[in-house]
Amino acid sequence: MKLTFLGQSCFLIETMGKKLIIDPMILSNPLATKIKIDEIKVDYVLLTHGHYDHVADAEMIALNNNAFIISNFEIVSWYEQKGLKGHGMNLGGKFQFDFGTLKYVVGVHSSVLPDGTHGGASGGFVLSNSEACVYFAGDTALTMDMQLIPKTCPGLDLAVLPVGDNFTMGYEDAIIASDFIGCHRIVGCHFDTFPPIKIDHEVVSKAFKDQNKTIILPQIGQEITV
Ligand code: NI
Ligand code: MN
Repeated sequence: MKLTFLGQSCFLIETMGKKLIIDPMILSNPLATKIKIDEIKVDYVLLTHGHYDHVADAEMIALNNNAFIISNFEIVSWYEQKGLKGHGMNLGGKFQFDFGTLKYVVGVHSSVLPDGTHGGASGGFVLSNSEACVYFAGDTALTMDMQLIPKTCPGLDLAVLPVGDNFTMGYEDAIIASDFIGCHRIVGCHFDTFPPIKIDHEVVSKAFKDQNKTIILPQIGQEITV
């Protein structure tokens, strides 16, 4: 499985011969100007929740690619009313897709779509297949529910956790989260895009290292093989 970081919480995921994108905000991300959105080829668009910094380019990418949107029921229904196709889920549910199994898991956060429509519950995804198992936490606080992930999902090879603080948990809580989920190989997201979530990369990396954990704070465009 290969992940490519496209800024904020957006990753391109290549696995089992399929391409997925999660939480795309590219055109309005001043840090991601080198990413050419028209060259993005995907089969699926995964959305953790309805906030603008996660769905901004979802419609354009889905239309360009005739791609399926996968999110919670409320968000998928909103896109279906626009004529897009999708697969709605809700918290605690998993479904077998042609790229693997997705489980939509608890995120402690809010969710509203760009036009003010309620965006349902906010969540994250655990993606598992014969290549790897990866947790995309979405926007979330540290929550005890994370302890359920190792009890209900295959062992994690990698976890993508928000570390920018203010709108989500910060890096100190992400370290505790990595214990809760039983995964010590962490990729940070949701940092540096806006002034309130700017982080000191050295401080964050050292804090993880001091706990014998690894965190990658990816550059936009950086590829990570799982
Ligand atoms: Ni959010
Ligand atoms: Mn966000």
